[in-house]
Amino acid sequence: MPSKATEGLPDDNEGYGTRKYWEHRYTSSASLHTKQLKTKLTTREKQGTTFDWFLTPEYLLPFVSDLYPSKESRVLMLGCGNSRLSEVMYDAGYQNIVNVDYSSTVIQDMSARHISRPQMTWYEMDVLNLQLEDGSFDLVIDKGTMDAMLTSKGDPWNPPQKDVDACTKEVDEALRVLKHSPGSKFLYFTFGQPHFRKRYMTNRPDWRFTYREIGPPEGLAYFLYVLEYASS
Ligand SMILES: C[S@@+](CC[C@H](N)C(=O)[O-])C[C@H]1O[C@@H](n2cnc3c(N)ncnc32)[C@H](O)[C@@H]1O
Repeated sequence: MPSKATEGLPDDNEGYGTRKYWEHRYTSSASLHTKQLKTKLTTREKQGTTFDWFLTPEYLLPFVSDLYPSKESRVLMLGCGNSRLSEVMYDAGYQNIVNVDYSSTVIQDMSARHISRPQMTWYEMDVLNLQLEDGSFDLVIDKGTMDAMLTSKGDPWNPPQKDVDACTKEVDEALRVLKHSPGSKFLYFTFGQPHFRKRYMTNRPDWRFTYREIGPPEGLAYFLYVLEYASS
C-alpha cells in the first residue's frame, strides 16, 4: 500500500541527511523505544508500505528503457528505499538488479516483499562506500538519493564542503562499479536544478555528461542527469 508524502517527515530538512532518520522512518512500531520517538513517528511508514519520493516508476520506465534498452544489463539501484522502481523495472524484464540502502530495516522489508522476484537482490550498504567490485555493472541508478545528502541548513548556492564531498564520492563510487565499456551509464533522477547538481558530474574523464528536463507536463520540473562511458 503506498504511503502519503506527509507521513513521517523529519523535524527539519537536515533530518533527511541522516541514517538515523531513515532507519526510524522504515522501522515498525514494535521497535520504537522512547516516548519521544513514539510521538514523532506514529505516522511514519509501516512495514509493507511503498513510497516513491517523486514521479511514478511507470512514468520513469520509458526513460530508462530508452537510454538502456538491453534487458540483460546488470543494474545497481542506489538508495532504493521502498520505491517501486526496481519492481516495475524487474517486471519489464530488467531482472538482474542489485538494490542497496543504508537502512537495514528497509532492506529486510524489501527483500521479504520481493521473494517472488528472486533475481533481484537487496543489501544494506552505504552508497559512499560500495562493497561491490570495480566494473561490474552496466547501469547505475539514483532516484532522489543524492538529494537526501543535500539537506544541510545554510546557503544552497554554496553547500557545506561535507555535502559536496559526499555527493562527489557517491558519483565516484557509481563510476567505479560501472563497466568501463561503451554504453555503460549512470542515471540520476532528481528535482535538483542543473545549477545545483552539474558540479558533481562534470569534468569526469571518459564520461560524457548530458541532462534533460523530464516533466511532468504540469507542476514542478524534474531532471534526468546522465553520465555515459565515452572513451575512445
Ligand atoms: C529520498 S529517499 C529515495 C528513496 C527511493 N530511491 C525513491 O525514489 O523513493 C533516499 C533514500 O536513500 C537512502 N540513503 C541516503 N543516504 C544513503 C547512503 N549514504 N547510503 C545508502 N543509502 C542512503 C535512504 O535510506 C533513503 O531510502
